[in-house]
Amino acid sequence: MKSGRYDMYNNNKFKVGLFGANCSSGRAIVKNLPERWRADWDSCSEMARLADQGGFDFILPIGRWKGYGGESNFQGSTYETVTWATGLLAQTKRITILGTVHAPIFNPLVAAKMMMTADHVGHGRFGLNIVVGWNEPEFQMMGHNQREHDARYDYADEWISAMKRMWTEDEVFDFDGDYLHLKNVVAQPKMTHREPPLLINAGSSDAGKNFSLRHCHGFFTNFVRRDPKSTIDFVENFKAEARALGREINVFTQGHVVCRPTRKEAEDYYRFFTTEGADFEAIDEILRLKNVTRANTPDYEEIRRAVPFRNIGYPIVGSPDDVAEKLAEIHAIGISGIAFSLVNYVTETPLIAQEVLPRLQKMGLRA
Ligand SMILES: Cc1cc2nc3c(=O)[nH]c(=O)nc-3n(C[C@H](O)[C@H](O)[C@H](O)COP(=O)(O)O)c2cc1C
Repeated sequence: MKSGRYDMYNNNKFKVGLFGANCSSGRAIVKNLPERWRADWDSCSEMARLADQGGFDFILPIGRWKGYGGESNFQGSTYETVTWATGLLAQTKRITILGTVHAPIFNPLVAAKMMMTADHVGHGRFGLNIVVGWNEPEFQMMGHNQREHDARYDYADEWISAMKRMWTEDEVFDFDGDYLHLKNVVAQPKMTHREPPLLINAGSSDAGKNFSLRHCHGFFTNFVRRDPKSTIDFVENFKAEARALGREINVFTQGHVVCRPTRKEAEDYYRFFTTEGADFEAIDEILRLKNVTRANTPDYEEIRRAVPFRNIGYPIVGSPDDVAEKLAEIHAIGISGIAFSLVNYVTETPLIAQEVLPRLQKMGLRA
């Protein structure tokens, strides 16, 4: 197997990454519990060190600009992801670290140079999750009018096409698209190895998927455990569609891990932080942004109670044996890796590094 930047420089068949650590609370909508993730720099730095030395493959931040209020102001304190990644790349040796960048609000030349800088700092370990945005208050705060849904991906297509040329071509060029009109473009130095970084996207619409097929090396989809066949079919078809375009694409998924020495401890904690430990004021605000309110939704209470579970994606809860088994199940249906969140990325990472990753190695999923 080749092991360049698109394989995160290793032969692990199943890649494991941490997701959401640049945001306060990560992805767990919890009250101000003592263990709530504060996402201050020293904690992020310690998380990256533990993940790098512990054998994780990648770190994926969230592109988030505005918190959701509530007692915890869920995701109210966030680091901009390319500068965050650059700092962490400087402190690590082997792990891939991504930025999650909203295409419409970053000038492509500035973004290309920022990412090239990050990639040089990390000697080729920077990756990019391209997002086009959905959260209106974030864009209002920047004075930016969002385009209609599919046009966001049309714009992102031009944005990344121009950046790929900035990263790899020596010739001065003009770029004349429907949205971008760039004259006499030069950008030196080039990306490490003169290759675009690892590019990923997680669009669930047809426009989002088509964008990934054209441009990305990795695509995120949701794993549906009760219907594995649908995921198997999706992964096979998606990869075949990419091949028809002369491209290879890996499919990843996302979730949340609660790993404790015993299954009971893990299950008890999972139940706690998604029920009495949850910040329901912040949840009301998240729902309000999606126009779901008590006034317009008869089963509001039921929906509200489900948010702490739904928000963290697929739950992987249990002892190290349980967690390793659940990850192996995901690999078995064709998924190439997972980005998962933790409630606390510093206290919870060591057990996974010490007990779960070696089990995956014994199962043949990691080199
Ligand atoms: C793993 C994963 C990471 C994502 N990260 C972000 C993010 O950081 N910021 C953001 O605005 N959207 C993020 N999204 C949302 C997607 O980019 C996308 O907008 C969403 O899935 C809806 O799909 P669509 O844009 O095709 O309609 C993420 C989704 C997934 C599954």
